Formats: sequence, C-alpha cells, structure tokens
Amino acid sequence: MSIDIDKLAKRLEDSILEDAREVFSETVLEHAYNPRNMGEISDADGVGKITGTCGDTVQISIRVEDGRIRESRFLTDGCGTSIACGSMLTEMIKDRTIEEALMIKSNDLLRSLDGLPDEHVHCTVLAVDTLHAAIDDYTELRSNKQTWVR
Ligand code: FES
Repeated sequence: MSIDIDKLAKRLEDSILEDAREVFSETVLEHAYNPRNMGEISDADGVGKITGTCGDTVQISIRVEDGRIRESRFLTDGCGTSIACGSMLTEMIKDRTIEEALMIKSNDLLRSLDGLPDEHVHCTVLAVDTLHAAIDDYTELRSNKQTWVR
C-alpha cells in the first residue's frame, strides 16, 4: 500500500484549519497564515521589544518620516495570535501620525481582528504595548538628536 504524503498533509492541514475556524475569526486566520510586515527594519527610527507575562516576546520597529509612520515591521516568537496581532497592528499604523498611532488601544486591535477568544485577548495588549515602546524609543532618540544639535 502506498501513502500519498502530500494528500495526507493537505487533509491534516484542512482539519487543523477547520478546528481553528471554530475558535478564530477569518481575519485572525488570514493574518496568522499570511502575515504582513514580518521582520525588522535594520536602521529603524524606533524599536520596541517586550516579553509578556505569557513568556512570548514581540518586537516592533518603525520608520518615521515627516511625523508619520511610513514603515513598520514586527517579529514574535509567540502564538499564532501574536502573529495576527503584529500583522494587523503594523497595517493599522501605516501612514498614521505618531499621535494617531498612540491613540490605538488594544480594544481597537481586537475589533480589527473581529474578536479573539478570551484567553488570547492579552496578545493584543502585548502588541499595542510593544508599539508604544517603539514610539517611546523613537521619541527618546529624536530628543537626544536635538540635544546634540544644540
Ligand atoms: Fe503570548 Fe499570545 S500567548 S502573545
């Protein structure tokens, strides 16, 4: 008897996805399986990196031009939800001013993802906290530069 490994893998993948669909929204699954903006910016204007109480670490780097976030990238060693959060959040802040990005709360991210199971809501908090840390880093680096110029 020969086993078609590809067919078996596809069937397994379909069944995992089917289970995941019962728990997660299509939006979460779409971002978790096809993440946008994954990686880091080598010469970023600001970088935030936070390890959450769950033990997972998220990093977000931003490039700012004319007071707007023109590019952002994220990395995570965490759960699939943290990938979806990083992907959605980096899309949400594209071309936003620093002030507008700071106004994004974890509930906004939660809404954009069409909700999450209760046990994964903290993943949105970690992502937003990390963005704020990246913005703090940008603000600090900028004020240091201005001090040097004086
Ligand atoms: Fe840690 Fe999702 S469980 S970020």
